[in-house]
Amino acid sequence: MALLDILCFPDDRLRTRAKPVKTITARHQQLLDDMLETMYAAPGIGLAATQINVHEQVIVIDISEDKTEPYCLINPVVISHSGIETMEEGCLSVPDTYAEVERADSVVVKYLDRKGAEQKLEADGLLAVCLQHEIDHLKGKLFVDYISKLKRDRIRKKLVKQQRQM
Ligand code: NI
Repeated sequence: MALLDILCFPDDRLRTRAKPVKTITARHQQLLDDMLETMYAAPGIGLAATQINVHEQVIVIDISEDKTEPYCLINPVVISHSGIETMEEGCLSVPDTYAEVERADSVVVKYLDRKGAEQKLEADGLLAVCLQHEIDHLKGKLFVDYISKLKRDRIRKKLVKQQRQM
């Protein structure tokens, strides 16, 4: 397994739209393992392949406290949603930044698991928010896109300055 580098906002590569996975191969098994390791080490509760500069529709999520409930989702699609809720979000690609984002309160997501079997996941609360946040990444969208341009520009300046200092 390997720790992967995570792209940081405002890196343009985070704006790439990921392609669907046609055939799940050994490379994807390795990718999922590396993504889980990278997410746990960060530490974070979700990671999309886009964030590690792989532009395929693959995400991993684990919102459990003891990191024992990993979800690996390939080609995830929200097939229904309901309700509205606002939650404070952060992102491994937008370090040290948090903002309230309004999203659906519950979602049903269909996806392929790592064996290629079709699955359906009904989620609400934090898991629903996390799924929507990660699926957004696959579309080149970030949580800071939901806040005002003024705030987003302020975050961009802060992170560009930080990245220059590193
Ligand atoms: Ni994120």
